[in-house]
Amino acid sequence: MKAAPQSATCHQRVIAIDGPAAAGKSTVARELADRLGALLFDTGALYRTVALAALRAGVSADDGKALAEIAGESTVAIHGASQRDGRLYDIWLGEEDVTWAVRSPEVGAIVSQVSEHPEVRAALLPVQRRIAGNGPVVMVGRDIGTVVVPDAGLKIYLDANSRERAHRRHLETLARGGDETFQEVLMQTLRRDTVDSGRDVAPLRQASDAIRIDTADQTIESVVKTVESLARAQRMPCGKPVWPP
Ligand code: DC
Repeated sequence: MKAAPQSATCHQRVIAIDGPAAAGKSTVARELADRLGALLFDTGALYRTVALAALRAGVSADDGKALAEIAGESTVAIHGASQRDGRLYDIWLGEEDVTWAVRSPEVGAIVSQVSEHPEVRAALLPVQRRIAGNGPVVMVGRDIGTVVVPDAGLKIYLDANSRERAHRRHLETLARGGDETFQEVLMQTLRRDTVDSGRDVAPLRQASDAIRIDTADQTIESVVKTVESLARAQRMPCGKPVWPP
């Protein structure tokens, strides 16, 4: 007897949301995950936590080997938001809530460089794949659809022009009491884009089978609705909807 053709992906209940910094990925993903009853996992938090731990340990952002050791030793957890202070989720490093510490300008200044090292990416890959394997999950990052979960059931690439993205990031920074100027945030956004899309390993790219959504002229609600209807239209081989799980 022949086995039935297997058209389902192993990761049908993984939604991959990739795109450049401040394209609205995390906000859209938070709302989407809540509506679909899925976990939210923002992989940028992993790279940010390694950058924070490196700053504290005095490890240089150039030292891929030492950074990979930090990545291997750190226990990072992402949970639902425990406080109503604007956070979309909690990030814990061991016993410490580092949700805001990983958003500091110091971490922002080195995190792209930290994430460039192949050793760091290799150390964080199994962690991300374990999360994907436990699905249902909305995973946010730069290389989820291309490298981490290439067979994700739905792949979305959120994009917006750099001025719009810098404007959003600037407003977020001001709301948290930061004093960076728009120009500084714009320069940091452009620098981040160059590093993220120019690195050799797992550069920021739209997967060939990802659906691109330009978020510049849309509300979050409208983007969420679009992605939610794409997700709810997904079917298993037997015809059952993929969502809700
Ligand atoms: O999304 P974010 O700004 O929190 O990401 C922080 C950095 O981590 C960003 O410069 C790119 C990097 N990153 C990555 O290289 N791959 C991912 N899957 C997620 C983030």
